[in-house]
Amino acid sequence: MTQTPSIPRTAVVPAAGLGTRFLPATKTVPKELLPVVDTPGIELVAEEAAEGGAERLCIITSPGKDGVVAHFVEDLVLEGTLEKRGKQAMLDKVRRAPNLIKVEAVVQDKPLGLGHAVACVEPYLDDDEDAISVLLPDDLVLPIGVLTTMAKVRAKRGGSVLCAIEVPKDRISAYGVFDVEVVPDATNPDVLKVNGMVEKPKAEDAPSNYAAAGRYLLDRAVFDAIRRVGKGAGGEIQLTDAIALMIAEGHPVHVVVHRGTRHDLGNPGGYLKAAVDLALDRDDYGPDLRAWLEKRLTR
Ligand code: UTP
Repeated sequence: MTQTPSIPRTAVVPAAGLGTRFLPATKTVPKELLPVVDTPGIELVAEEAAEGGAERLCIITSPGKDGVVAHFVEDLVLEGTLEKRGKQAMLDKVRRAPNLIKVEAVVQDKPLGLGHAVACVEPYLDDDEDAISVLLPDDLVLPIGVLTTMAKVRAKRGGSVLCAIEVPKDRISAYGVFDVEVVPDATNPDVLKVNGMVEKPKAEDAPSNYAAAGRYLLDRAVFDAIRRVGKGAGGEIQLTDAIALMIAEGHPVHVVVHRGTRHDLGNPGGYLKAAVDLALDRDDYGPDLRAWLEKRLTR
């Protein structure tokens, strides 16, 4: 019997960005703590990592953003109060995050870019950890499970595996876009070989309709590549540049095309869609919200 490979032991969640698109809310509240219905985005991402089989979540934070990691610490006073009042459902909700997965904070002193943020985790890895997963907390990729498919692809083909979504041509220039080719012996047509990546191309220059979707399974070789790329777009050390360097040097990189939903929690418009989408599926808020929306849309 073949066992489904689990994702690497360490899942990395870069959360040290400035969150400028969400100002003024992010002046004091990290965007990763903004609730999607009632659950912070960071908890949804932690759930995904835990379900994939990761054993610890390294959250890259900036000085002063401690609240993100604090969400995963038990609050015995609050739990005691809820217990005394017989609020079992609330208690279950409060206990969920601390019990999901072991969480560690890794501080990125300055926001020098996503590549730099990922590199901050290297000193915390054990010698036998040959890969990491990276989950961008801005991206909700539903239903959960693409990381497991990505782990299968790495087990079969080695190297690094990324996640893509298919985006219509008129919206492609907002994304990092993959230059891909078909894998002749692939049993899954949604697995493609990556030859390169272009950040935010003009629609007519886009090499495909496949855009990066915030999930990465990266071979440990990525750290060496990050060290060797200089500053890229925006004067930041870009993860995309490190991946491009690895591809140029012959490191195998594949994508798995995710055929479900992807929400962008990093800007208010995408965040609202995610909240409405998830609320509509809930028994407690869904029916009332649907009725209100239908009425509101006829106004
Ligand atoms: P973004 O640049 O999209 O997000 O980084 P941001 O900086 O948080 O938000 P805006 O653009 O100012 O609104 C993508 C991901 O990389 C992390 C961010 O936290 C986000 O999850 N990141 C980015 C870091 O952890 N460190 C960095 O230096 C840059």
